[in-house]
Amino acid sequence: MRYPVVLLIPALVIGVSLYSTATPQTVDPSEKGEALYAQWCQDCHGTSGRDFIERSWKLGSREEDIARVIREGHELLGMPAYNETLNKAEVDSLTRYVLDRAASEKRFQPAGPRFESTSDLEIRADVIVDGLETPWGMDFTSSGALLITEREGRLWHLKNGVKQAITGLPNDIVVQGQGGLLDVAFWEDPATDSSWVYLTYSRQHPENKSFSATGLVRGAWQETGDTVSLGPLETLFIATPYEKTHHHYGSRIAFGQDGMLYLTCGERGKRDIHPQTLTTRPGKVHRLHPDGTIPTDNPFANQSDAEASIWTWGHRNPQGLFVHPLTGEVWTHEHGPKGGDEINILKKGANYGWPTITFGRNYSGTIITRDTAKTGLEQPLYYWLPSIGACGLDMVHEGPWPDSWQGDLLAGSLSFEYLERLSLNADDEVIHRERLLEDIGRVRDIARNASSDIFVAIEGAGVVYQLVPLQP
Ligand code: HEC
Repeated sequence: MRYPVVLLIPALVIGVSLYSTATPQTVDPSEKGEALYAQWCQDCHGTSGRDFIERSWKLGSREEDIARVIREGHELLGMPAYNETLNKAEVDSLTRYVLDRAASEKRFQPAGPRFESTSDLEIRADVIVDGLETPWGMDFTSSGALLITEREGRLWHLKNGVKQAITGLPNDIVVQGQGGLLDVAFWEDPATDSSWVYLTYSRQHPENKSFSATGLVRGAWQETGDTVSLGPLETLFIATPYEKTHHHYGSRIAFGQDGMLYLTCGERGKRDIHPQTLTTRPGKVHRLHPDGTIPTDNPFANQSDAEASIWTWGHRNPQGLFVHPLTGEVWTHEHGPKGGDEINILKKGANYGWPTITFGRNYSGTIITRDTAKTGLEQPLYYWLPSIGACGLDMVHEGPWPDSWQGDLLAGSLSFEYLERLSLNADDEVIHRERLLEDIGRVRDIARNASSDIFVAIEGAGVVYQLVPLQP
């Protein structure tokens, strides 16, 4: 059949308007809830409503409680409000979807070894430890044992396949929201041959229980027979001011080739207060001597109205950090809001722009700023749109890995539950991205040992995998 074009236009207009008014009735409400969930919620609560399965509810489990939380949010816990973004019908479908998921029997099962065909290599992922709750940070001792934190407040020593608890942890850890026991780093003092364990955590305010701050402590490594404990803890740094919120603690630790300790601190959900001032500590990367004193060559060491420990500023929530094995540069990535997770190479004194410039939006979809660049503010090396929920970052370097993998970045995705491989060219531009370990669970940390083996920690499943390249 052939219609003259003139006739087609009104037909189209009527068709389109019919379509748009008819759609809400024809979509199954549970499917609608699922789609809305994928669009607005999975970044934080995991794919397929995982967070709500077998949940013990904090804010109430009745339909009206959940609808209220979605509409009004909960600022202290870090749950955004959607009353300006979603209408009543949408909130209702989401509520039904969340309750559906809560009632489902499905449980996330830890997997055995899995085999993976990447674009240029077969790899096997071996479970080297399981039964963890929320593994958060990893590092290796000088004798090659793996140290693993669990956010719930435990530190493990994994040696020859045996997992043992390390005692002597801080007793003021606030395990709430995104807080808890966070990163771990092992350091051997070349001057004294003594070894130290560094820990970051959300630290309770000594007088007021409802306030917390990112804290850094260290304790001497004490090994007697089969047991390890930490000596008396020294508090090295507290990212003051303490805040009431329970999110954006940052908390990655790394030792630079300059012998300094780098510590990332998130802005605690106070984006209009901390990232763009030098007078507070949240929303910054700090640089300290391993004993916690402040290097005199820090960029703001001699500025009276600045925190002397600041190395870089304008950060949101950096949870990936490593030192480039060849150049010694310190690389980070940080969580953007909805969109705009970014990778940065830290430059002394530089401002990375949050929230003055960003490639992201508010979780509710509203605009933060249209600016993505401004003079005086750094551009990221790379940014992810949509956000992958970047957590854990390292680089493939030497070891058992083929040439095509050398210098590639590995970044975890909390939101989409895979490990991302990013290949760079000689100018450090991302030229290729690949998804590895699809649906593995929320990837929280990545670590490389002295033999350049790669380890990946997964929340939910509570496991750590070792990646083993299989030769053809
Ligand atoms: C920016 C991250 C973020 C996004 C996006 C987000 N939430 Fe939340 N939500 C949280 C945090 C953090 C909490 C409190 C901590 C927790 O219990 O997990 C929370 C709590 C909740 C609770 C209360 C749980 C309880 O135990 O009482 C519900 C229900 C909820 N969210 C639903 C949703 C829904 C539905 C969406 C999408 C419309 C959504 N959230 C989007 C971070 C987020």
